[in-house]
Amino acid sequence: MTLPVNRDGSRMTWRATVLTLFPEMFPGPLGVSLAGKALASGLWALEACDIRASATDRHRSVDDTPAGGGPGMVLRADVLAAAIDAANVSPDRPRLLMSPRGRPLTQSRVVELAAGPGPLIVCGRFEGIDQRVIEARRLEEVSIGDYVLSGGEIAAFALIDACVRLLPGVMGKLVSGADESFSEGLLEYPQYTRPQEFEGQPIPEILLSGDHARVAAWRRAEAEALTRARRPDLLVARTADQKRPKNATDG
Ligand code: ADE
Repeated sequence: MTLPVNRDGSRMTWRATVLTLFPEMFPGPLGVSLAGKALASGLWALEACDIRASATDRHRSVDDTPAGGGPGMVLRADVLAAAIDAANVSPDRPRLLMSPRGRPLTQSRVVELAAGPGPLIVCGRFEGIDQRVIEARRLEEVSIGDYVLSGGEIAAFALIDACVRLLPGVMGKLVSGADESFSEGLLEYPQYTRPQEFEGQPIPEILLSGDHARVAAWRRAEAEALTRARRPDLLVARTADQKRPKNATDG
């Protein structure tokens, strides 16, 4: 994977710029473990910008009641647009809006995002965001699943974590078969380690055989059976992918 380069040819640091009403939530879980070490050592960068800093009235208000009535509050277009503009991100960076209305995040989109310069990510709160700013600032709505979180921050953590672990040097050799099997559209096969027997259950004998070809075939069959049982939709998508002409795009 090649990262974008600076004018002098040096590698540009992958950067996530997060717009949120709760900048104190960051780096949060991204500050520990492998992502946290990589952040501390400059392998990637994180900026959390406070949307409220772009409020203009005396009360620093960022939201208002929905036009047409209804419950909850809507994030104002003018305040969010000013916050996006103040972040001053270069036009080649994707501008995402975490939202349950968005296209579902996939591993292939994560791979694309990790290969680029890094996204600007808007975290929604309240009932929603004024539609006009989504269109005017061309925000790409991204969902992390069919459930509703109380805000986009936790979704942003998930997206950033999934990208950061793919950056060169973050995981070393640990980027594993699980990634490869996911990009092949299959769930991961089961894993075992010591002890050799746990509560009467032995490790499947084939895994101790030392026969790499048989182990690989067993793992493949397990991955396929698991995917068929739990995520038949992935198998359908995979078959469609295999049938698609090589130069076709998602449009
Ligand atoms: N904000 C609230 N729910 C969300 C979801 N499921 N995905 C992304 N952002 C969200």
